[in-house]
Amino acid sequence: MIAITPKEVELFADFVHSHTGIVLNSTKAYLLESRLGPMLEETGFSNFTDFFYAGYRSSKWVSRVIDAISTHETSFFRDQRPFDLLQSKILPEYFGKRQSDPEAFNFGLQIWCAACSTGQEVYSLAMIIAELLGKEIGQWNVTITGTDISENAIHKARQGFYTSYEVDRGVPLVQRQKYFEVKGEMLKVRDELQRMTLFKKMNLLGASGVNGLYDVILCRNVAIYFNQDNRRRLFETIAACLRPEGVLLIGSTESLHGVSDHFVRKESCNTVYYQAKCQTTNYSAKVS
Ligand SMILES: C[S@@+](CC[C@H](N)C(=O)[O-])C[C@H]1O[C@@H](n2cnc3c(N)ncnc32)[C@H](O)[C@@H]1O
Repeated sequence: MIAITPKEVELFADFVHSHTGIVLNSTKAYLLESRLGPMLEETGFSNFTDFFYAGYRSSKWVSRVIDAISTHETSFFRDQRPFDLLQSKILPEYFGKRQSDPEAFNFGLQIWCAACSTGQEVYSLAMIIAELLGKEIGQWNVTITGTDISENAIHKARQGFYTSYEVDRGVPLVQRQKYFEVKGEMLKVRDELQRMTLFKKMNLLGASGVNGLYDVILCRNVAIYFNQDNRRRLFETIAACLRPEGVLLIGSTESLHGVSDHFVRKESCNTVYYQAKCQTTNYSAKVS
């Protein structure tokens, strides 16, 4: 493996931070060597400095480096409890309210999975919604928007192909049979789930992004990679995108304490979730 010098570590750490907000931790030298080493070998560079200066102006190179450096760990129904909360309380209450208000009925349901990686989180939500709405799903306009900075991750999410290992890690057998079809050695998410989804490449700290307001936002296991300033920026953006009665779910090891005072912490089904502190309507808000 090609060794990286301390100066090169700083060069790449600054570059990654300015493009993604990701702060590389103390294992950064090893992480850079192991994740970027194959790219150096493939392109014939013998050191990280030459590799950097030859590539950093190319958007394709930037995209590949970010893909390699960011951690895409995810799984279907990851951490289970937030999905139980959505399935047993939040979504049934939401659908019930909408149905009992004829004026609001058919407004639909808008969900944003920020930093969705390869899509398992999005399809887990789609399975829950399909189960809850059953045959009534056609009456609803459900969109689950999955965004991530990684082009490869978004591509895989959009395709909806997974190995049986990936599916069996989180999807119960009944749902596996109901919502996946076998395609060669892979399992493909069925069209009825894919129809609810929309995937976009998006930098959560960038200048352009998802427009709109959401009833539910999941932003799990990404803010842990950011510094405090960027966490604040991220949750400012999220606060501006959450509908007045909307619900925010973050990762099970994460907290908004000291990060944002826009939200009220609530707990149900042994799970923490957040709602807007000041539930005033702000329909002009958008992520930019
Ligand atoms: C560990 S995964 C979390 C996936 C999923 N939310 C979950 O909890 O299973 C973190 C994801 O954050 C994405 N990411 C990192 N920095 C980002 C940024 N600035 N904007 C958008 N996505 C980012 C990575 O590409 C990666 O796919």
